[in-house]
Amino acid sequence: MSSINIKIINQLNDNYSYIFYNKNGNACIIDPAESIPIIEYVNNNNLKISDIFITHHHSDHTSGVIEIKKKFPEVNIHSPSSNIENTRFVLKNNDEIESSINSFKIISTPGHTLDHIIYHDKYNKILFSGDTLFRLGCGRVFEGSLNQMYASLQRINELDDDTYIFCGHEYTLSNLNFIENIISKKDLYLDIRLKIERELELSDKSVPFRLDDEKKYNLFLNQESLIAKAVKKDLNIDSFELFKYLREKKDKF
Ligand SMILES: [Fe+2]
Repeated sequence: MSSINIKIINQLNDNYSYIFYNKNGNACIIDPAESIPIIEYVNNNNLKISDIFITHHHSDHTSGVIEIKKKFPEVNIHSPSSNIENTRFVLKNNDEIESSINSFKIISTPGHTLDHIIYHDKYNKILFSGDTLFRLGCGRVFEGSLNQMYASLQRINELDDDTYIFCGHEYTLSNLNFIENIISKKDLYLDIRLKIERELELSDKSVPFRLDDEKKYNLFLNQESLIAKAVKKDLNIDSFELFKYLREKKDKF
């Protein structure tokens, strides 16, 4: 994962914000909800924040911006909408942007919200997926349609297997319990359950995670995996219908 350091910052109940920085101390922030732990980490490590990147307009991804901007007025805020306070640069699908330490390609992923974007750094093989992709799950579809969310997830499914994903919430165990509940062959998830439980025991976190595991186990993301194919056959449904079936069941889980 290159020369970029990524510090995971717990926010609110189960949100994650990220500070990524290089050896020169240049730093960028993803989705700040609470400013205090971020400002503390930045000061304690002599970092200089150049940019804040926002994935979507929900307040649990943006509410820290104002205080950070007050403390560091020169910070540039990038977001998908001019309605998000303090936005200087509005980003849209396929934009290529440079921060002080890396470059991102913007992928528009409507579904959870209509404005949702994710940040892909192909060179460093990292993806900040906000509330579009979670480990073993995906975001609820609040503003867009199921078709839009399905298409958005397909765009992630096309990225390289060795991409490391940093998502917006720690929902992994709940997602795992759900999927074990849904499929008849629960033991197919034993390996990944052990891996996740080990990670949670070590750090209380199951992020980041790799896209190849998701392609294998996340049935919201990939409906062509061996597991997904078996489930589709069982239920006699196609790929989109599997996604729809899972999303609707998960909403009530
Ligand atoms: Fe959200």
